[in-house]
Amino acid sequence: MKITFEAKSGHKQDAFVVFVAEDGKLDFFDKKMKVAVKRSMQAAAFSGKKGAILAIPGLAETNTSYIIVVGLGKLQDLKLNDFEKIGSALVKELNARKAVSAQVIFCDKLKNIAEDEAVSRMATGMLLNSYRFDKYMTKKLKEKKSTLKSVRFIVKSAPAARKKFDTSRKVTDAVFLTRDLVSEAPNILYPKSFADIIRRELSPLGIEVKILNRKDLKKLGMGALLSVGQGSVREEKLVTMQYRGGKKNQKNIAFVGKGVTFDTGGISLKPGAGMEKMKYDMAGAAVVTGLMKVLAARRAKANVIGIVALAENMPSGSAARPGDIVKTMSGQTVEIHNTDAEGRMVLCDALWYVQEKFKPSHIVDLATLTGSIVIALGSEYAGMFSNDEQLPLHLISAGKEVGEELWQMPLNEVWDKAIDSTVADMKNIGGGREAGSSTAAHFLKRFIQKGVTWAHLDIAGMAWVNKERTSVPKGASGFGVRLLDRYVAEYCEK
Ligand code: BES
Ligand code: ZN
Ligand code: ZN
Repeated sequence: MKITFEAKSGHKQDAFVVFVAEDGKLDFFDKKMKVAVKRSMQAAAFSGKKGAILAIPGLAETNTSYIIVVGLGKLQDLKLNDFEKIGSALVKELNARKAVSAQVIFCDKLKNIAEDEAVSRMATGMLLNSYRFDKYMTKKLKEKKSTLKSVRFIVKSAPAARKKFDTSRKVTDAVFLTRDLVSEAPNILYPKSFADIIRRELSPLGIEVKILNRKDLKKLGMGALLSVGQGSVREEKLVTMQYRGGKKNQKNIAFVGKGVTFDTGGISLKPGAGMEKMKYDMAGAAVVTGLMKVLAARRAKANVIGIVALAENMPSGSAARPGDIVKTMSGQTVEIHNTDAEGRMVLCDALWYVQEKFKPSHIVDLATLTGSIVIALGSEYAGMFSNDEQLPLHLISAGKEVGEELWQMPLNEVWDKAIDSTVADMKNIGGGREAGSSTAAHFLKRFIQKGVTWAHLDIAGMAWVNKERTSVPKGASGFGVRLLDRYVAEYCEK
């Protein structure tokens, strides 16, 4: 979708979009248009409530198929987030009306928000909500596809808005990469093809991409990661992405992603119904990939390591069994009790590796780790666990700004004890079903070295949305890219 910002109104468009505030004046149409629109608004009893939309078809006076009037509510109550919501709703409306081009005329005087920020944020919502994964649709394309091809914003502060949106566009591109990866079918996206995409996408941006294969992982002693991939004909991979945008002496921060390209559960097989969804069990890795892309694209002033552990969890004659004992790279041993608790197995070796090799001061890992977090928090919050006090506050605050919210969950020694094994250092699940997300987090915590600040984000309920949200059409959300980009921008760049 082409989005431009201009100071002057242009030629004919399929739709004109205008705004009405409850406490504002209608002074932004040309005269004839204004009278006609005013009358339609009165007839429809449209008062300009925040987010309300009135679509007026084919007024003779306006030389356009639709005028879309969008309510802003009271100007003083408007927040930056509201503009994203409006943009997101607007693109849906325009597509429903089959508009191909639209002109958004924005001339209201805002109270507490800079116009360029507001407009750029609105454009971001439009763009994010126009995402479709339709590359395999050979039929019925017309009804499903976005029709909207170009949007022209008419604003006084066009150059400033253009500049703001330039950065947003980089973030959006990264979110789309993440969504594409998460949406991709598991016969197409598996560890090797995923690693190849990472190299292709990120190397040109100056990120150093290294792919470790089975032989390397064996040499490093990553028995846990290897145990997950051993039932699959697809070889597991560990990919590191190094971006150096900070000063030489600036410490690395690391982002680690679970990349199970398909999770059948292995020998502890999952039920059949809904299993196709487990293609998105690599969402953590996809978020890390997208995040690295935006950080490099906008030349973030930080030294950042991205690392993804990629494996396919399959049942087969060579698959790991419940009862198997494996040695992790850290030297700690794990008794496998459930082969469906494989996320922590791939992550623990990746976590250890990144600490040994890159000595990061901070680590944030992302994983579609547990069903329990979906039960606890639904699809409103990702669960967060941390060994630090400040890091969670920073992450929560960054998340609020972009509408990707986190809820901190507890760690407790009792749940650490719950993963002790009688024959190895630990087992890969807790006792019963109690506090399943916390026992999983404690498993990871056993692989965090002294002095390292760590947060674990369980995004199982957020990576895929069944009900559309602001800026997120149904399907892969890309949850985490915007949040972590903000976190880096606000708290890690010097
Ligand atoms: N990939 C799943 C978790 C998941 C569930 C992600 C729902 C997205 C939506 C994970 O590997 C898993 O199977 N976890 C088990 C752990 C259990 C065996 C201790 C779970 O949560 O049931
Ligand atoms: Zn699993
Ligand atoms: Zn899984």
